[in-house]
Amino acid sequence: MRELARGFIRGFRVAGYRAGKAALRGLGYDVHLIRSHGSGDAIHEGLEDGHLYRKWSTDTAMWTPWLGDEVFRAAFEGVAPHTVVSSDRCYTLFSLARQARFLDGDFAECGVFNGGTALLLAGSMEGTDRKLFLFDSFEGLPEPDQARDPGFEAGDFKSASEAAVRKLLREHGETVDLRTGWIPETFGGLEDRRFAFVHVDVDLYRSTIDCCDFFYPRLVAGGTMVFDDYGFPATRGMRVAVEEFFADRPEVPLALPTGQAIVTRLPDPGAP
Ligand SMILES: C[S@@+](CC[C@H](N)C(=O)[O-])C[C@H]1O[C@@H](n2cnc3c(N)ncnc32)[C@H](O)[C@@H]1O
Repeated sequence: MRELARGFIRGFRVAGYRAGKAALRGLGYDVHLIRSHGSGDAIHEGLEDGHLYRKWSTDTAMWTPWLGDEVFRAAFEGVAPHTVVSSDRCYTLFSLARQARFLDGDFAECGVFNGGTALLLAGSMEGTDRKLFLFDSFEGLPEPDQARDPGFEAGDFKSASEAAVRKLLREHGETVDLRTGWIPETFGGLEDRRFAFVHVDVDLYRSTIDCCDFFYPRLVAGGTMVFDDYGFPATRGMRVAVEEFFADRPEVPLALPTGQAIVTRLPDPGAP
């Protein structure tokens, strides 16, 4: 009975959110979901695991390298206006990408939006001969799974324009290979590539599974996948996708206080 009531309340909140969004669109406003990082986000309330969404950063002062690291600050210059990814998450991305430069494999980002984190990753690769493959529809999200991705709608995160992203990245022309269209179709032709670093920022359950299906088997030993939004209530579908995918694999996704999760590929059993 309690579960039924919780389900009803949750459905009511999501319906309210959608009705409000439709009303604003009717008035001529384009509405995009900005993910709340607070525990007050209604999306997780009433879920069976909703009580596990909590504020878990400490009150103690902690070292914040994204504010002071000169190498990061230089690379982050010009990125902030083009990304919805916060500077602490960008620092995680940048640090892991810089390490992955020493592995033998290309880089990829799924979910480019206005190009901010793509620009940061391209900057992290300076001086290497690696490629950065970028994947986005530039039409926003595809149709979400109603049960797993409540709160999202097709077309959310529609980018400014593909042309604007190409312009933003033009100084990295040789490095970047931008593939416009729907994941996983746009992975076609890359089957023989190997990857050292993959940023998955696609928000939805199905899109995340499709990225894991393609990139995990092509990730070199020591290579990293970073899942943005893993810990945020609004993108719970993404977390569920990651947990399902790695449930029967040796790698353990590591949840960070930033909301991201990272996976480091282990060597294949029997590999020298
Ligand atoms: C949150 S945005 C990415 C944010 C970006 N990394 C940044 O720096 O702000 C999510 C993106 O995923 C894309 N996306 C999600 N699923 C997709 C799919 N199946 N095919 C293509 N693009 C997809 C959307 O178009 C959207 O631009």
